[in-house]
Amino acid sequence: MATHVMAVESSCDDTSIALLRAEPGDEVPRLVSWSVQSQNDVHEKFGGVVPELASRAHLYNLLPCMRKVLAHGGISLEDVDVFAATRQPGLIGCLLIGHTAAKTLSFVFDKPFVSCHHIESHLMSVYLEKQPPFPYLSLVVSGGHTSLYRIDGFDTYEILGVAIDDAIGEAFDKGAKVLGLGFPGGPALDLLAQSGDEKKYAFGRVHLEALNFSFSGLKSELARAVKREGENLDAASMAASFQRSLLDHLLGQLLRAVKGTKITRVAIVGGVARNSALRRRLDAWVQEGVLSEWFAPKPEFCTDNAAMIGVYAYRKYKRGELGLLTDDVEATARPKRK
Ligand code: KG4
Ligand code: ZN
Repeated sequence: MATHVMAVESSCDDTSIALLRAEPGDEVPRLVSWSVQSQNDVHEKFGGVVPELASRAHLYNLLPCMRKVLAHGGISLEDVDVFAATRQPGLIGCLLIGHTAAKTLSFVFDKPFVSCHHIESHLMSVYLEKQPPFPYLSLVVSGGHTSLYRIDGFDTYEILGVAIDDAIGEAFDKGAKVLGLGFPGGPALDLLAQSGDEKKYAFGRVHLEALNFSFSGLKSELARAVKREGENLDAASMAASFQRSLLDHLLGQLLRAVKGTKITRVAIVGGVARNSALRRRLDAWVQEGVLSEWFAPKPEFCTDNAAMIGVYAYRKYKRGELGLLTDDVEATARPKRK
């Protein structure tokens, strides 16, 4: 008999619900229907996510989103076999809305509940598109996290490096703010950079011993450079040069991992995996023979979505790792070593 999973993602400013279906023996479930409600209109006038407003918006968006997904999927709540939600990391008020909704449904319909780790769920998002052969390296590049994993199997992975300060998405967003671009800044900076000269402004190189990442120094360098240039600022070239410096560091660390592990297959997941320059550089690496192949989810599954939560929830369900109704949410990541 097939298993239907309903997943809820509400860790930051996107309310998302997904319905997935797995046949017996499937390693990962297939997406049946999903929906995401962005809150950009709520937060853009503040230039960043306002946690209190985000929690309230989740409350308004959750049930309409769920009704839409059930209607598209042609399924009623009684047919759902597993309810799942993001548990950590994220904004506490936001996490509480989705997590409590899924726990309540699991209680009412007497079905299992699964709590999910947001970052580990991003890792699973690539399986919604195509399953890379194991082993491969996976780079999580999101608004809140930058981390590098070695993936040896669906449930077997190990962290090789993490951001020691700002995440790369945060650097994109803060950089965009300094350049007077809109919210969220990453896509706006990506677009502006396309018409600029990435060699026009020089940024320092970041040197770290381990496979970790540090983006906050480059962000401060950008603020100083924009101030220094004043009215002479060529914003498109500044955006392109800043973006190049972020990607030089990110890909420099990735290259060290590729050389160290001799693994030449790479996946990129998380919102910054939508970045056009990053994708072009990985294409070039394949042309040059540095990588054999690279993988990424479809753009809509790079940014936060419940489909990836559903994939991870199904893996946990298969392993018998069920949540309890007393489970609480957590703001911090604390990813486990596997
Ligand atoms: O994965 P995600 O939706 O949320 C977190 O888990 O944090 O990632 C959101 C991040 C934001 O920082 C956003 O600016 C960035 O992804 N982003 C991009 C692009 N599209 C989204 N950054 C650079 N270029 C893009 N095209
Ligand atoms: Zn995310």
